[in-house]
Amino acid sequence: MKDYYFIQNEVKNMLTFDRFIHSLGVEKEAIKLGERYGVDINKCRIAAIVHDCQKDLSDEELIKKAMEYKIDVDKIQLKSPQLLHGPVGALYSKEKFEIEDEEIINAVYYHTTGRENMSLLEKIIYIADIIEENRKYFPQLESIRHEAYKDLDNALIMSADSTITYVIKRRCLIHPLTIEFRNSLLLGVK
Ligand SMILES: [Fe+2]
Ligand SMILES: [Fe+2]
Repeated sequence: MKDYYFIQNEVKNMLTFDRFIHSLGVEKEAIKLGERYGVDINKCRIAAIVHDCQKDLSDEELIKKAMEYKIDVDKIQLKSPQLLHGPVGALYSKEKFEIEDEEIINAVYYHTTGRENMSLLEKIIYIADIIEENRKYFPQLESIRHEAYKDLDNALIMSADSTITYVIKRRCLIHPLTIEFRNSLLLGVK
């Protein structure tokens, strides 16, 4: 794997200033959550800094790269290509930053949609993305932030609810992985 500072600098050059600041915020939050839940801090750090590395690509570029990486693009991703920045970012990171750790790759791959039975690292990146310090206010933000350090799965359910509600209000498509993600969390809750 390439050195952290090399990766950070590459990411900085690929993203708008605000998005880079967001990525640093996700990193800071992911490290705190990693300490709280006993997850490898280095994995948290790397996954967080690269998670949005392909987010400034256009819809056309994302679809093109997804094809190049042989990602099986479904009809929902075709209609909402921004969903592809997770999978494309994951495979880009594997190729360019030589990240071989499957857990880090999966955390980046699924950070937008979630999926069922996520690992702790995947959950940390998903929630850190939502609650990091630079996030613009939305109604549930403070309670999700608080819950993330108390009961991670419950914080994830709250986040999935808030994302799905937002998507429905805008009459946008919901990816089936997001539904599976939420269902698996609800089924896992006592
Ligand atoms: Fe993202
Ligand atoms: Fe993000």
